[in-house]
Amino acid sequence: MTVIEIVQGDITRQRVDAIVNAANSSLLDGGGGVDGAIKRRGGPAIVEECRTLRATTLPKGLAEGAAVATAAGQLPAKWVIHTVGPGYSRQEDRSEVLRSCYRRSLAVADELGAATVAFPLISSGTFGWPMGDAVTQAVAAVRATRTNVRVVKFVAYDREAANLLRRTVDLFSAF
Ligand code: APR
Repeated sequence: MTVIEIVQGDITRQRVDAIVNAANSSLLDGGGGVDGAIKRRGGPAIVEECRTLRATTLPKGLAEGAAVATAAGQLPAKWVIHTVGPGYSRQEDRSEVLRSCYRRSLAVADELGAATVAFPLISSGTFGWPMGDAVTQAVAAVRATRTNVRVVKFVAYDREAANLLRRTVDLFSAF
């Protein structure tokens, strides 16, 4: 079974096979949050590969809930797996799309042969998802996915989110 680890800190510092980017559909104009940090620290190789993807296989961009890999440039990882979380809506339950981000990122990780993968809490920043539910969806999705990935590291930026993750993982392992 996949081991879940919880880390508080910066996802761009994680030494894992693949780190997941909370991207947007364009794959190109993300300036803030995880996307900005990955592209700044990873250097131009990542953006260049995103541009190539847009010019070839993804002319309309990456759909919400889908995932695609690029190289990781100067990051201490082999790959970046870009996924597009759904924006939060009070009117509509979009949690299946959020869980799909985790599931399909793990499928891409399996195709790559990645054994260790670090995830941020997708959609919980700019995309406005309430943190408590973003954490629940993240843990539920990983727990429900069959994968060869040995270790999933959830990387929370602040202590509150890390504590929430710990409690949620404990709760899931109690059943
Ligand atoms: N490491 C780990 N977590 C981080 C980091 C970092 N370096 N920077 C931000 N976070 C946390 C945020 O605190 C939040 O809890 O990651 C979570 C996700 O936030 P965002 O990066 O804003 O991702 P999301 O809500 O999915 O919004 C995606 O933002 O950057 C743009 O191009 C991106 O349009 C897309 C949107």
